[in-house]
Amino acid sequence: MMSNDNRHVMSVADPAAMAAAAAERLIARISENPGRVAICLTGGSSPKQLYQLLTTEACRRKIPWERVHWFIGDERFVPADDPLNNMGVARKLFLDQCAPATNIHPIPTSTADPADPDRGAALYDGELKAFYGADALDPDRPLFDLVLMGVGPDGHTASLFPGDPALDETQRWVVGVPKANVEPFVPRVTLTLPTLASCREMLFEVAGADKRAILTRVFAGENLPANRARSTGETVWLVDQAALPENFRG
Ligand code: 6PG
Repeated sequence: MMSNDNRHVMSVADPAAMAAAAAERLIARISENPGRVAICLTGGSSPKQLYQLLTTEACRRKIPWERVHWFIGDERFVPADDPLNNMGVARKLFLDQCAPATNIHPIPTSTADPADPDRGAALYDGELKAFYGADALDPDRPLFDLVLMGVGPDGHTASLFPGDPALDETQRWVVGVPKANVEPFVPRVTLTLPTLASCREMLFEVAGADKRAILTRVFAGENLPANRARSTGETVWLVDQAALPENFRG
């Protein structure tokens, strides 16, 4: 493991090893908390192997499903059953098989109510605050045990895109994003940086040669959303060999 200020980069062989390492970290974070656990999931393709792994008997029996709650860090503003819906994908891959329905907390995206991403964001803001039991985040009491993240080709993370005013939001926990910078070009809802930061661990999963260029920029310290996303606790980047920048290679 290589350290760079409060961020740790862990290299793994390939996507399968990355999913195994992520599952191990997720289960370890759950085990550390004897009470109610909150995990914030992410969208994109990177976490899919992890989600599938969580349904295997070896992982499944280590998770006390009754007391683990599942949230999502950002959502594409499409109906819940649309294949692009991030929570919909997580439900299909593992949550619907494993978690009690009342422990699954999707961002509402139905077009009737709420009618727009800002409304969906406001509803989720309220849901997170009700779950947390306060309107302000206390640095000594993180909202989440673990927050999963990915990075896009432009350096976005969650639905926080370069240059978007949402990056500087300090009051609202969740905001609507009218325009995405990358595909799919649908409006988004995203948790803001302070909300995502309120966790014991933020865990990025990054794999594949097409991620090497953006990782080189992120690790060089460029001002990109993925660089500004840091946990108040530990921030870990799991990176596979194909994605690892040249200067991080042994
Ligand atoms: C989304 C995501 C997004 C994602 C990155 C990486 O809704 O698109 O939450 O932030 O994590 O774009 O995506 P991949 O894992 O597909 O590379």
